[in-house]
Amino acid sequence: MSIVAPERSPLVALRDPRSPAAEAFRTLRTNILFSSLDRPLRTMLATSTAPDEGKSVALANLAITMAQSEQRVILVDCDLRRPGLHTLFGLGNDTGVTTMVLEQDDAAPPLQATGVAGLSLLASGPLPPRPADILGSRRMERIIARLRDEADVVLFDTPPVLAVTDAAVLAARVDGVLLVFAAGRTRRERARRSREMLEKVKANIVGVVLNGAQANDAYTY
Ligand SMILES: Nc1ncnc2c1ncn2[C@@H]1O[C@H](COP(=O)(O)OP(=O)(O)OP(=O)(O)O)[C@@H](O)[C@H]1O
Ligand SMILES: [Mg+2]
Repeated sequence: MSIVAPERSPLVALRDPRSPAAEAFRTLRTNILFSSLDRPLRTMLATSTAPDEGKSVALANLAITMAQSEQRVILVDCDLRRPGLHTLFGLGNDTGVTTMVLEQDDAAPPLQATGVAGLSLLASGPLPPRPADILGSRRMERIIARLRDEADVVLFDTPPVLAVTDAAVLAARVDGVLLVFAAGRTRRERARRSREMLEKVKANIVGVVLNGAQANDAYTY
């Protein structure tokens, strides 16, 4: 099965694989996969300073390009406050991280096929009252380990790091962190504070995505 993203879909890696944006995601993929050759990066999360900086869209595009290079990829929606990955792929949200937390260790993860070969989604599931407690739980640690066994790369979406502790809690438990900033919108001071918060929990920041940068912008190179 394969899907072609509709004309206005932000999943540019599917919709327009020859575009400069899709090419940028392939470069990012290569850089991330080769960022540390002695300890391959198997789990990574994306976060940003504020809402709507494009982290879910950027992570989904990265996941698609990884799957296109024959990696088995699981995309996990750990934004347990404003989950959006299921919508991007036209899928439901009845099961996912929060239902998995309630099940036995040996239960199969409720993964959904995305239509992209090699890429599956673990949606958020129903929203819980205290997301950070779930992400910081021992059970969550075992879920991460379980997902690692089922894929080459596991990518986690999270809420903004300056808003709530969720991303920082999870950042300490994954191999790498990708920061997503919105060109012309993310404030320098907030970007710096985000980096500091992540460094405090010993997160390994592996890259930065500048979302919405104009290739013909006189101020960019
Ligand atoms: N590169 C892009 N080109 C066009 N539209 C984009 C791009 N990146 C994001 N968008 C749009 O911007 C909006 C916000 O993107 P997204 O949901 O990825 O942000 P987010 O940081 O995950 O937000 P939230 O904080 O709510 O989780 C969405 O409507 C998305 O379709
Ligand atoms: Mg999001």
